Amino acid sequence: MRVLLVGSGGREHALAWKLTQAPSVSDLHAAPGNPGIARLGDCHPIRAEDAEGVLALAHSLGVDLVVVGPEGPLVAGIADVLRHAGIAVFGPSAAAAKIEGSKAFAKAVMRAAGVPTAAQLAIARPPCVLKADGLASGKGVFVCRTQPELDRALAAVSAIGGGLVVEELLEGSELSLFAICSGGDALALAPAQDYKRAFDGDEGPNTGGMGAYAPVPGLSEREIEELVATIHRPVLAELGRRDSPFVGLLYAGLMLTEDGPRVLEFNCRFGDPESQSVLALLEGDLGEALAAAAGGELGGVSLVTGSAAAVTVVLAAAGYPAEGNRGSTITGVSEAEQDGALVFHAGTALHGERLVTNGGRIVGVTGLGESIGSAREAAYRAADRIAFEGMRRREDIALAAAAGQTYALRP
Ligand code: AMP
Ligand code: GLY
Repeated sequence: MRVLLVGSGGREHALAWKLTQAPSVSDLHAAPGNPGIARLGDCHPIRAEDAEGVLALAHSLGVDLVVVGPEGPLVAGIADVLRHAGIAVFGPSAAAAKIEGSKAFAKAVMRAAGVPTAAQLAIARPPCVLKADGLASGKGVFVCRTQPELDRALAAVSAIGGGLVVEELLEGSELSLFAICSGGDALALAPAQDYKRAFDGDEGPNTGGMGAYAPVPGLSEREIEELVATIHRPVLAELGRRDSPFVGLLYAGLMLTEDGPRVLEFNCRFGDPESQSVLALLEGDLGEALAAAAGGELGGVSLVTGSAAAVTVVLAAAGYPAEGNRGSTITGVSEAEQDGALVFHAGTALHGERLVTNGGRIVGVTGLGESIGSAREAAYRAADRIAFEGMRRREDIALAAAAGQTYALRP
């Protein structure tokens, strides 16, 4: 199978890495890809947002499947453009991607499907959570415990523009649960935890994610299946009823509260950096699974997660999430790889032979181990090898789980 992967981040590098290991995948192309993906397949200088350009490329390469990584092109309708031309796509239509593209739409779908989520509030009064309605790269959500926080959040949301959703503030542990979806059915991947705040101890602003690990200790396979049965499948059924079946990766961002799991958000694509841990653990043919989902039939596909653990540490620019860093030399990537870690490129570029920074999150370093503790040690040991100007990372990724903390659906 010839596969075209759309996107250029760490998530796409992790997808490319797993897809090129799949017996079903004969060659991999990417639009536009990144220097890490270029070592695994052919990168073509077409932007992910350029749906017509991606369509022309897919035709000229004669690809069997297009896998779309980022949410922006999905919400804008890239999957519709490709499907309309008869190309198999792993990624939802614009109508189904609205589950991520509009918080108000996601709330309406959850209400209709009976999926447990944070209550919507009519008035913004602390404590509460404000959410800008549209896509905001993880920067449109404001947790407000005090009036000054709420005042700042209201100003920030009005600067983003568009609608606003106000929610009750939930307390608990967060969990990211991904399922490969075929429209009618869902296949869960290993549960993961993301570290969204910029600084150690969950301080500072929300980011796209500063690190992740999988699997989350304490959750049995039966409980994961229960989550998919009460969250992902009812949403698939509701989107099907609305004539917008969801084909792609449905990401549920959950809070495990005293009253049970509640959905904080849905995303219409693989999470980043979680996918750098989740895909690292996956056994089985990812190409076959994504092609089966794209074809509307998941029956017979099984993907197993081994007993090992994975921990991903993001190395970010000094000013991330407010600003990125461009053009600084990155050293030590091959040394980190020689240590046995996976280094996924997120915001890198090549200046001639020189690997340089090109974004906010620069690389993700994933360590594997028999336990979360040993995976964590492997990730940080390898991350110590890498350097660039202003490099910043969190030191507490997977720390609690490595120290023995476990998680439960109903704490
Ligand atoms: P979202 O983009 O909706 O996942 O929100 C980003 C982050 O904001 C989440 O990962 C949570 O840490 C936090 N958050 C979102 N909604 C709530 C809520 N209702 N209660 C508490 N925290 C929330
Ligand atoms: N890591 C959070 C996200 O992908 O949205």
